[in-house]
Amino acid sequence: MNHPKAIVHLNRLARNYKTLSKSLDKKRLMAVVKANAYGHGAVECSKTLEDQGCDFFSVFTTEEAKELRNAGLKSDILILSKLEIESIQTAIDKNLIVNISSIDDLDSIIFYLEKNGLSPRFHIKIETGMNRLGFDLRDISFAIGKLLDYKNLNCEGIYTHYATSDEGDISYALLQQERFEQALEIANEMGYTFKYKHISNSGGLLNDLSSNTNMLRLGILLYGIYPSKDVEKKYALEPVLEFKAPIVDFRKAQKGAMVSYGGLYTTKKDTIIGIVQCGFADGFPRPWFEKGYVYYNGKSFKIAGRVCMDQFMVDFENEIPIIGDEVLIYGSDGKDCISVETISNAIKTSPYTITTVLKKRTKWVFKK
Ligand SMILES: Cc1ncc(COP(=O)(O)O)c(C=O)c1O
Repeated sequence: MNHPKAIVHLNRLARNYKTLSKSLDKKRLMAVVKANAYGHGAVECSKTLEDQGCDFFSVFTTEEAKELRNAGLKSDILILSKLEIESIQTAIDKNLIVNISSIDDLDSIIFYLEKNGLSPRFHIKIETGMNRLGFDLRDISFAIGKLLDYKNLNCEGIYTHYATSDEGDISYALLQQERFEQALEIANEMGYTFKYKHISNSGGLLNDLSSNTNMLRLGILLYGIYPSKDVEKKYALEPVLEFKAPIVDFRKAQKGAMVSYGGLYTTKKDTIIGIVQCGFADGFPRPWFEKGYVYYNGKSFKIAGRVCMDQFMVDFENEIPIIGDEVLIYGSDGKDCISVETISNAIKTSPYTITTVLKKRTKWVFKK
């Protein structure tokens, strides 16, 4: 069967985890495995990380958390999405941690506590500059008052999220850090302390923005990808994902032949055009065709013309490809490498958008 293949190198993930956790100066590492571990396979990646000693994970939805629990993950799991009232019971049953980001959320779990005598475990999220989910600073003392009034509320953490931690200019991140510290100070003055305080994502780690916290939420670095071109590549990390696809056919094309939709690629000489079974419907980053290339037999070859929905073409020049062989689209096969960052920089997008969009037709292969 012909299909794109995502080879997930779990050994590289384990090594990245070791490298990053060593750099955290005794702070805890929460592995962010939402969106199917950024396209890498949430269950397999989480289990590998748990085997390495990681004991805290975050996902976005209750469904994602349930998938990990049902697969046998024992560790703490924080759900980052807006609280869904209908998921409170599941969170309790499955020992999951929910996100409380507004007075309404807090009221919902107080209502639940009064009715059922139980509280889910939760972290409260503070809005410091992202303008997404979170308590406004002016509501912090009211929220802490409620946490003090209802002793059986199971609050374990406080956090916020940086908007610009991986940018060259980190002044806005420093402002967010200051606002978070204000929230901590209000809690402190009211005599309330949190077990976990967390603010940094990968950019926060790279730009040393984690003071006053005891945990970091790391996603993209674990997968061996740097979050932007503006950060220092401080750690020797390995790309976890190797994305490949099979050559299913080839044809001889004469000089001057136009290849693919729009006829944007014209062959410069008589050449071999290979047809690779992977397209933008499989998560191939379509704009990459303009400057893009693949690796085959240790050599790079240009992508010829626009990427189609299910296939793309490669200009193999004099090389006669073997039908069924695979080309490397991105990642590393141990010899050749096309980094996700190379592609995202070339097509002026975020590296986060590359691996998270892999689709169902891809076959995932997990290598220990
Ligand atoms: C709330 C939250 N924390 C942490 C992360 C992890 O960020 P990164 O992948 O940059 O480490 C994300 C990612 O989107 C997030 O939304």
